[in-house]
Amino acid sequence: MDKGSSTTLIHSGEGRFSHVESLTTPIFETTTFVFESADAVRRYNEGGSGRFLYSRYENPTVMSAEAKIAAADGAERALLFGSGMAASSTLLMGLLGAGDEVVCSAAVYGGTFHLLTDLLSRFGIVTRLVTVDDLACPDTVITDRTRILWFESPNNPHLRCVDVRRVANACRSRGVTSVIDNTFASPINQRPLEMGIDLSMQSASKYLNGHSDVTAGVVSGRNALMERVELARRKLGGILDPQAAYALGRALKTLPLRVARHNSNGMAVATALEGHPRITRVYYPGLPSHPDYAIAKEQMSGFGGMICLDVEGGEAGACRTFDRLKIIKRAVSLGGAESVCSLPFLTSQWGHSDEQLAAAGVTKGMMRVSIGLEDPDDLIADLKQALE
Ligand SMILES: Cc1ncc(COP(=O)(O)O)c(C=O)c1O
Repeated sequence: MDKGSSTTLIHSGEGRFSHVESLTTPIFETTTFVFESADAVRRYNEGGSGRFLYSRYENPTVMSAEAKIAAADGAERALLFGSGMAASSTLLMGLLGAGDEVVCSAAVYGGTFHLLTDLLSRFGIVTRLVTVDDLACPDTVITDRTRILWFESPNNPHLRCVDVRRVANACRSRGVTSVIDNTFASPINQRPLEMGIDLSMQSASKYLNGHSDVTAGVVSGRNALMERVELARRKLGGILDPQAAYALGRALKTLPLRVARHNSNGMAVATALEGHPRITRVYYPGLPSHPDYAIAKEQMSGFGGMICLDVEGGEAGACRTFDRLKIIKRAVSLGGAESVCSLPFLTSQWGHSDEQLAAAGVTKGMMRVSIGLEDPDDLIADLKQALE
């Protein structure tokens, strides 16, 4: 050892394998990247050098997963975040300023609702809530102050669907940025950017990862808008960690296989429970009885694994059924291999007043079930015994 032992141990072995072509993208577990000269740093600053500076800005493992999602979405670019809410808040803060108006479907994920109405409202961003039915005539909800129109389709929790092309066209012609939360569909079942939507946001904690073990979010779209989201991500610092990006990139390889099974399981469970004497209504966009079946069939290539059951007896009926489930777990979230059930009035719509619940079309008898990858007959039997 011609150097001290600390110096030797810190620097030996590093950087020796940068030329190796591994089949899978390794976890670049580093906060910072090495440059050979001031000139290389200058070229990085000027852009397009293909180099990396700092993992809060960009990281190869994260970029690898981003490239997969961009390809699945048909987007020029996708950006990953540490959660779906980090993706949503960065997108909104990157594109909006004080005085701007967001038109938002009242029936959105509760976190999105509270972000807009409790937090961004403090910075002068005004949110106007509209119903899913209002979105059937999107021209009538856009005003001169509207900068973003935000909606979900299928939405949370009763799977209402919006005519995505119609919203996209209305926004385009009025210079409004259209944003869809495509979490429930995933790009396997619905490709909103191809229908003219400007930005697609997803909680990657759900179907994209699909194993209930990574919290992440993603925004995708064309370069001009994504550049503004990227600048906001650098400042707000919500980029995904490389470890989590590795797990997500690995899971994305089986997304089409998993979603196909979610689709067939969802259809099997919804069909088996429709008409059950203790269920007032089954909401599943693949059932002809669903109010938006026609538009779902037109714009989706599969109907997904989310179903919503309105149980007889309201709150008491739903709570009793929920407590008796054996295989399906009582847990929030969705899109994983394990089926989970939640009561929207206690979770995603918790804190909503009765008027807000009514505006979102949510009842206290609703059970939201994320149908997983188990054997469908076991899931049907579990729900039926819980309903007895
Ligand atoms: C439809 C939808 N959008 C966004 C989110 C927020 O995502 P995350 O929990 O990854 O922050 C969720 C979370 O449940 C969701 O269901």
